[in-house]
Amino acid sequence: MSDVESIVKEALEQFSRAGAPAELEQVKARFLGRSGALTEALKGLSRLGTGERRAAGALLNAAKERIESALEARRRALAESATEARLREEALDVTLPGRGRGRGGIHPISRTWERIEEIFASVGFDIADGPEIETDWYNFTALNQPENHPARSMHDTFYIEGMHALGADGRSEPLLLRTHTSPMQVRYARMHEAPIRVIAPGRTYRVDSDATHSPMFHQVEGLWIDEDISFADLKGAYTDFLRRFFETDALQVRFRPSFFPFTEPSAEIDMMFASGPKRGQWLEISGAGQVHPDVVRNFGLDPERSMGFAFGTGLERLAMLRYGITDLRLFFDGDLRFLSQFD
Ligand code: DAH
Repeated sequence: MSDVESIVKEALEQFSRAGAPAELEQVKARFLGRSGALTEALKGLSRLGTGERRAAGALLNAAKERIESALEARRRALAESATEARLREEALDVTLPGRGRGRGGIHPISRTWERIEEIFASVGFDIADGPEIETDWYNFTALNQPENHPARSMHDTFYIEGMHALGADGRSEPLLLRTHTSPMQVRYARMHEAPIRVIAPGRTYRVDSDATHSPMFHQVEGLWIDEDISFADLKGAYTDFLRRFFETDALQVRFRPSFFPFTEPSAEIDMMFASGPKRGQWLEISGAGQVHPDVVRNFGLDPERSMGFAFGTGLERLAMLRYGITDLRLFFDGDLRFLSQFD
């Protein structure tokens, strides 16, 4: 049966030449498949006599086992080398230096916002947040600026076309992008009991754009209402805030008479640094005043029993003074050369 020996030899040789699993399986079919060489030889056994058949059968079975185990071994070898090739291909050089991701930073306006919250929270003020799309009533009417009041023209307002809200009195009223954070005084006061001590920082909008105005900007509103809160408290609280914000006690504050429909009397708060590039100049920093009795009524409070002050300060103004920035548009251009200086 040298035939059998040569079939085995041929099979082993062809297995070892097969370079890929699919090729190996094809080669296998040539020997072990339904019409493969060994299968054919096994079929031939039936033609032999009993004695011969036993001897030849044993030989063929031994051959089959050798072919099968050679096939198994080749399968394993191919699988292993595939794994190795993949490992080689996907190898990482862990000694290479990293690519380095840029570290993000906090935007100077966000930083300013956080500082303001921290300072006021530390002296017992609550922090409130409210809608940027506001009703006409909260933005104007409740703050003592009824429809057609000339003071409304102080604000270049973005009205939302074709959208109205149902006001408290059942009348439909226009919606707009809030022009200041002052509507938060009314929203907050109507939801809380006096005494009230709150700041409400947030985004505000006006049709306005130049080096010191942007159509979107930020304000922080402050409100302190109790039985006997006076201008003296406003001056004390606000001066303390500015000294902490600018980290210097060498800073003076003055009130200048002004007009806001929602305060009476009203003041413009100016400040002056004793040192630094802006020393000796009075800088306008905030509007403020004693809350008008009509507005206190809109809070749902009795102006005979509750009084206090409010202020509204631009965040950009504070940030510009703190960091020495002269063009407000830089805050919103998204230029990393500017922004990364605050990391
Ligand atoms: N809302 C005013 C503005 O945007 C700023 C302001 C002035 C707010 C006086 C106040 C205030 O609360 O009392 O111009």
